Formats: sequence, structure tokens, C-alpha cells
Amino acid sequence: MAKELKDEQIEALADYFSTKPGHSHRVRDKALAAVGEYIFLKGNQFSGIPACASCHGEQGLCTEQLLRLAGQHKRYVADQMEAFDQRVRNNDNAIMHAIASKLTELEIAGVSL
Ligand code: HEC
Repeated sequence: MAKELKDEQIEALADYFSTKPGHSHRVRDKALAAVGEYIFLKGNQFSGIPACASCHGEQGLCTEQLLRLAGQHKRYVADQMEAFDQRVRNNDNAIMHAIASKLTELEIAGVSL
């Protein structure tokens, strides 16, 4: 679908979506969310995982280079981590493959919340 779009249409779509606010989700499992928050802010020194916040920012908002994580659907985040790990997402996995391949299922579930 993107192939058919003209540059002006791509810019207009980007402008439109960049005005949309992020949404936070209701968290049912607070203990699991705490695991995710720990990994996001501090990483895991025992398995060599850097803090997600060190690249994605304290709030997980987008930067010039990185896509927004805050408010992203949890299934989407978990699927991307799996795809980075398995190298199924292979257009841009240089950095995230190294990180995703070290995360446990518990840690992925936590950071995805
Ligand atoms: C060293 C910097 C760095 C760290 C640390 C890092 N990321 Fe990333 N992240 C990136 C880059 C760069 C990309 C773009 C894909 C790539 O080049 O690997 C990315 C992409 C992503 C994406 C895909 C976003 C999308 O919209 O498709 C997700 C999800 C993600 N990171 C989650 C995490 C989580 C969770 C952590 C912590 C466990 C983390 N990242 C730690 C640099 C980092």
C-alpha cells in the first residue's frame, strides 16, 4: 500500500498521526508491570541488558531516530521483540536483535505492558 503513496501523501499522513496523543492502557497485573518498569529504567545487569530508557528515553516517547514505545499496544511490542529475536524483522534489527535475544519471556511480557 505504501508503494502507491506520493511523497506529499506520506508527509500528510505523518503530520496527521504525529498529532495523535498516546494512550496508556489499564494495567491488571501490577507486579508484572513492575518487572517491565525495572527492565525499562535499569535493564538487567545479570544478563547484560541495557536500560530501554537509555535509548528510547525515560518516557519511551519517540526521538528523531526511534519510534514511540509509550502507549504502544502490548501485543505489538511483544511481537516485535519476538521478531527481532528470531530475525524475522530483519530490515532494522542490528541493535534490537542483541537485546531481544537476551530477554526472558517474563521480561518481554513486563516491558510490553
Ligand atoms: C542501544 C539502544 C537501544 C536500547 C538499549 C533499546 N533499544 Fe529498542 N530500538 C533501538 C533501535 C535502534 C530500534 C530500531 C530497530 C533497530 O535498529 O534495531 C529499536 C526499536 C525498538 C522497537 C520497535 C518499535 C516499533 O515501533 O516497531 C521496540 C518495541 C523496542 N525497540 C523495544 C525496546 C525495549 C523493550 C528495550 C529494553 C529491553 C529496548 N528497546 C532497548 C534501540 C535501542
